[in-house]
Amino acid sequence: MDIKLRSGTPADAEICGGICYEAFKTISEVHGFVPDFPAREVAIGVLTRMLANPKFYSVVAEVDGRIVGSNFLDERNRIAGVGPITVDPSVQNRAIGRRLMDAVHERATEKNFVGVRLIQAGFHIRSLSLYAKLGYDVREHLACMQGNALGISIEGHVVRPAANADLENCNRLCQEVHGHDRAGELKDAIADGSAAVVEHDGRITGYATVVGFFGHAVGETNEDLKALIGAAKEFAGPGLLLPTRNGEVFRWCLTNSLRITQPMTLMSKGLYNEPAGAFLPSVLY
Ligand SMILES: CC(C)(COP(=O)(O)OP(=O)(O)OC[C@H]1O[C@@H](n2cnc3c(N)ncnc32)[C@H](O)[C@@H]1OP(=O)(O)O)[C@@H](O)C(=O)NCCC(=O)NCCS
Repeated sequence: MDIKLRSGTPADAEICGGICYEAFKTISEVHGFVPDFPAREVAIGVLTRMLANPKFYSVVAEVDGRIVGSNFLDERNRIAGVGPITVDPSVQNRAIGRRLMDAVHERATEKNFVGVRLIQAGFHIRSLSLYAKLGYDVREHLACMQGNALGISIEGHVVRPAANADLENCNRLCQEVHGHDRAGELKDAIADGSAAVVEHDGRITGYATVVGFFGHAVGETNEDLKALIGAAKEFAGPGLLLPTRNGEVFRWCLTNSLRITQPMTLMSKGLYNEPAGAFLPSVLY
């Protein structure tokens, strides 16, 4: 099979988005899970935005001139995020996925990223095998959790919308917890109006770009994380991603009626520091 790779363009969004929808739907339904994308248009919309965004590198695979898959690299931070990677279900398990992964790794090396990360659907043994063979280590088991807004406030922890003036403090906090900041994403989220901060004892002790699938959150303590989750108006997309090793917050979410929708895995290759605080990864990492 002659696999050709090329950069993606906005004109690929319709076909790549359709493949992305079908690929996730097929694998989720085989395992009895609800697909990540509720409709084809949602997947096309997400890929349209990524293909048009210069901060995302994209690669498209073709076989005999037909598009069969795509992959992305989020280049907004010092650590790059891989995915979503999807291959047309009719040609999966024939090395197209490996080629699409190699392409984003070459790009990450070229651009001097110190590490790459991704989130893997925990029930999907093929992607788990592929990523492990490509050098990724399993870092966290995650529960994707969904439910009604909790409307809970945590004493002494005030949640308010984030502003540009908070950037420096939030980036410092992320640096302390993860050893690197996520300044690019946070800046975008503040511009979108989706980011929030927690104030405790007169300083910022936590922030979230979004409490949900496409956003990450960082807190000095579990109380900061609970304050952000408790104040969220909704858990955007399929749900928030909770590291289950954080038993205290995991049980708190379960006790407050959030339900697990699927297991997921945070994997990394390159620089990784054991987090020194509380956090929620986004689906990009
Ligand atoms: C995940 C996905 C992108 C992989 O692409 P693909 O073209 O099917 O995968 P490849 O054929 O390149 O690689 C699969 C690898 O896993 C190995 N593999 C598959 N099942 C395995 C198993 N049960 N145990 C061990 N290895 C296994 C294959 O041998 C192959 O390894 P190799 O390259 O060393 O031969 C594709 O299957 C897909 O689109 N899945 C649905 C969407 C999805 O889950 N995307 C990823 C989100 S995290």
